[in-house]
Amino acid sequence: MLIADARHYATLTRYTEMMTRGLILGIESSCDETAAAVVERGSRTLSSVVASQIATHARYGGVVPELASREHLRAIVPVVRTALSEANLTFADLDAIAVTSGPGLAGALLVGITYAEALAFANNLPLLAINHLEGHIHAVLLKEHESATAGSDGPSLGIRRSRSASQDAQSLALVVSGGHTHLYLALPADGTWHYTLVGRTLDDAAGEAYDKVAKLLGLGYPGGPWIDSLARFGNSGAVPFSFAQIKTKAHLAGKAPRTKAAKTAPIARLDPHFLFSFSGIKTAVLRYVELHSLRAEAKARVCKVLANFRPPQTREEALALCSQETLDLIASFQRAIIGDLMKKTFAAAESLGAERILVTGGVAANRELRERFTAEASRRCLHIAFPTLALSTDNAAMIAAAAWPRLLAREFAAPDLSAAPSLTLGMIRE
Ligand code: KG4
Ligand code: ZN
Repeated sequence: MLIADARHYATLTRYTEMMTRGLILGIESSCDETAAAVVERGSRTLSSVVASQIATHARYGGVVPELASREHLRAIVPVVRTALSEANLTFADLDAIAVTSGPGLAGALLVGITYAEALAFANNLPLLAINHLEGHIHAVLLKEHESATAGSDGPSLGIRRSRSASQDAQSLALVVSGGHTHLYLALPADGTWHYTLVGRTLDDAAGEAYDKVAKLLGLGYPGGPWIDSLARFGNSGAVPFSFAQIKTKAHLAGKAPRTKAAKTAPIARLDPHFLFSFSGIKTAVLRYVELHSLRAEAKARVCKVLANFRPPQTREEALALCSQETLDLIASFQRAIIGDLMKKTFAAAESLGAERILVTGGVAANRELRERFTAEASRRCLHIAFPTLALSTDNAAMIAAAAWPRLLAREFAAPDLSAAPSLTLGMIRE
C-alpha cells in the first residue's frame, strides 16, 4: 500500500513538471541484456546503456535463466547509475520510471521490476509497466521522431509538433526477435497506440531459428550476427529450402502453438497466410549437415569460434572458419527465412491496407533483411522503417519511449505489479 500511495502522490505532484521536461528512465531486464536509458518526451534519447550477458551464456549456446537473473542483479545498479550520469541527470530530474513487465524470463523480469518499484518509491516518481513487444515497436517510432527533429525544430518541442504525416498512419509492425515473430496492426488513437495481432509463429521465432542453426553449425551465440556476416560469402541459391503453406483455419482449430515461446495467443482465429513456422527449416539444415558430412567441420569450428569471439568480416576470414559448402548453406538458410518473413508481411500489409511497415526486434538488425524489405517496399510504394541498429536488439530507450504516451494518459502501473512472462500485446483480429 505504501508504494501505491507514493505513486498516487507522485501522479498528482509530478504531472505539471513532466509537461515541461518529460524525462523518463526506462529499465529493461526481460532476457539477457540489463539496460537503462533516459528518453525525453518519447522522442529524444539522452542516454542508453546496455550490459550484455552474451559472454555468460555463449558457452551454453543459449540463455540460462538462472544465470540471467544473477547477472541482472549484478548489473542493474551500475547500469542505471551510468544511464543517469551519461544523461547528466539525477533522480530528482526525472518525471517517471518505466520498466518492462513482460513477456520474458520471470526471474529476469523480477529484477528490473523490483528495482524500478524501489526507485519509484524512494524518489516519489510514478511507475509505468511496459510491454516488451510494444517497446520494440516504439524503437522504430523513436528513431523516426529523432530523424524528424534532427536539424529542424529541436527536441524540446516534443513529439506532437515533430511528427511527420506518416507517423499517424495505420502501420503493420513485424516484431522479429529471439522470442517472437509476430505481426501487429498498430494505430495511434486518443494519444496512445492500439495494437491488433494479425499473425504469429506457430513454433520457433525467427531469431530462435538463427540461434539454433548457428549452434548446429558450431558458430557463436547469439547466432544472428554470425549468420548475417557469413551469409555474404555464400551462394544463397545453393540449397533450395522451402516453406509449406500453413494449413487452413479449420485444421488449426483448437490446437495450441507448439513451443513455449509461441504460447501467447490462440491461432485458429488468425489468417493462416500470416502464420509462420520456423522449426522445419532447422530440421532441414540438420538433415543437410548429416547428408553432406558437415558435422565434423562444425564440431571443429566450436573451439575456433570460442577463441576468436567475433564474426568474420572478410572472405578470407570466413573461409578460414567455414568451407564454401557451409557458407552456401548459411546463405541459403538466411535467404529462405527472409523470403518467408517478406512474403507474409507484405501480404498482410496489402490485405489490411497498412500504409507503412515497421520491422523491429533483434533480427531486424540483419543486413540482408533490411535491404530486401526496403527494396520490396519501394517497389510497392509503401513506407518502411526500422530502428537504429543499436535499438533493434533489446534496450531500455524503447521502453522509456513507449512509456511517454502512457504517462500522458496516466496509465500507471498497478500497485501489485509483478512479472508477466507470457504477456501478450493487443487484441486478436477476428
Ligand atoms: O530483440 P532481441 O535482442 O531479444 C529478444 O527480444 O528476443 O533479439 C535477439 C535475437 C537473437 O535470436 C539474435 O540471434 C537475433 O535477434 N539477431 C539477429 C541479428 N542480430 C541479432 N538475427 C539476424 N541477423 C542479425 N544481424
Ligand atoms: Zn526483445
